[in-house]
Amino acid sequence: MDKYISELVTLSNKNRRQFLKMAGYGTLGLLTGGFGPLLNQSVAKQISDTISETEFIPDLDISLLSMPGEVGIFPGEPTQVWRYHATVNKGDENKVISLPESYLGPIIKVHKGEKIRVRFTNSIPEESIIHWHGLHVPSIMDGHPRYVVSEGQSYLYEFEIKNRAGTYWYHPHPHGRTGPQVYGGLAGLFLVSDDEEKAIGLPEDEFDVPLVIQDRKFNQDNQLVYTSGNRMEQMTGFLGDWIMVNGEPDFTLPVSTRAYRLRLLNGSNSRIYKLAWKDERPLTIIGTDGGLLEMPVQREYLFLSPGERVEIWADFSDYSVGYETSIESLPFEVGGMGGGMMGRGMMMGGRNGQNQNLPNGAGFSIFKVKIIKYEKKYQSLPQNLSEIRPIPEDEAVNFYRPKQFYLTMRRMQWSINGRIFQMEEVADQEIVQIGTKEIWEFNNTGGGMMNMPHPIHLHGQQFRVIERSGVMHGGYVDEGWKDTVLLMPGERVKILVDFGDYPGLFLYHCHNLEHEDMGMMRNYFVTGSNNNQLNNST
Ligand code: C2O
Ligand code: CU
Repeated sequence: MDKYISELVTLSNKNRRQFLKMAGYGTLGLLTGGFGPLLNQSVAKQISDTISETEFIPDLDISLLSMPGEVGIFPGEPTQVWRYHATVNKGDENKVISLPESYLGPIIKVHKGEKIRVRFTNSIPEESIIHWHGLHVPSIMDGHPRYVVSEGQSYLYEFEIKNRAGTYWYHPHPHGRTGPQVYGGLAGLFLVSDDEEKAIGLPEDEFDVPLVIQDRKFNQDNQLVYTSGNRMEQMTGFLGDWIMVNGEPDFTLPVSTRAYRLRLLNGSNSRIYKLAWKDERPLTIIGTDGGLLEMPVQREYLFLSPGERVEIWADFSDYSVGYETSIESLPFEVGGMGGGMMGRGMMMGGRNGQNQNLPNGAGFSIFKVKIIKYEKKYQSLPQNLSEIRPIPEDEAVNFYRPKQFYLTMRRMQWSINGRIFQMEEVADQEIVQIGTKEIWEFNNTGGGMMNMPHPIHLHGQQFRVIERSGVMHGGYVDEGWKDTVLLMPGERVKILVDFGDYPGLFLYHCHNLEHEDMGMMRNYFVTGSNNNQLNNST
């Protein structure tokens, strides 16, 4: 039987004040239009009290605007996009890196422990809100769709960076419109550094390269084309025939003969990449969603599904100037309707050609790497990258009875356990006690002909993948801390989550953005209050 948040909130009313304090610096968002239904007038009063009580002194204070704009992607007509634009009000301007040639939002760089304030103003002609994908922030700072603001309105974010060093990102999260807004250009990287990472001395600055991979479709006038809204296309998810890297088609990365850190984000709506080096050397993986691994691992190829990040150590020191290689996406079978007829698509003339079709699972080149400069700088790959706090599985309160989440489809509707998203609804199963650890099992075995891959993302917490079964593919990188995990058809994945410190409502959903928009998303509610004020840094 389903319960509703309003009941939960009434129940935990006595904890509310503490909740607000906890959410802490965070409460400001509510003053500026992001007024959630969880909060009534008297609470608003409490919030203003809380604000005067807390002293949030940001290390970085920026204004972030979502707005219509245009970029020159192809010769001829500029492409109309939506983009984030930042201005730094306080703090180091070099920490916010705008990409003037790209529709992508600025890269925001912060150090663990820093406090940041983002004054978000929505200037696109529909509701929006920003989610900080992978960041561990209080519920009201997390960009839940109930906090959307309309055109001209603002939402104020204030939070402390509790995450480990890693490659995180931000994007809109209004219910039903995340797909088109991300597609329109609203997304950016959020890079966190920490002392542990600094100490091992990885390649930095120009040798630390962010690479955001996305697919897009353009018409003959260079304008973006999204799905028609037809149910079948939504069921599959949007697939474009141009592979963009950092917002550019036909991307080439010029490099020197030395080691690089490549940070890859799959920022696509629904396309999955099976990454490999063209020259067949193995990929050396040093990090995943929640930062550096304990030690590097190698794969011949790896899957990167929407929302996931992976960090690669790429050493070009034994190559000669002029050599060219590339990162490819190898062909793979996804089964069912997701592109079962594996195509060997070619990226030619996508704009003008007809009948362009690059199904999920098609093979193609993603970007080229060209050695352009000799540099004698040998840097060896550190064998100990970071410390990963172990969580014994039997510490989970449901160690013997993992919660089951079936990825389900009924009458052309993707859902989780047969339920679709309702703004404030949580089922019994979706309530967790603060300060506990739980095992959740996602199960993608039920779909028959309609089977599709689903990348499952949890807000609020990084988790550990503790088991994957029914596996038909290699190439998973389940190591380290994760916030998004891919389930191919037939697979089951168990994750271990520590619901350590932040109470409130958070989301989990399929990160195929068309699936998410049609409701393959649910809330979970962390109940109770946080008594230990330990900084639970994952
Ligand atoms: Cu990257 Cu709920 O999303
Ligand atoms: Cu899905």
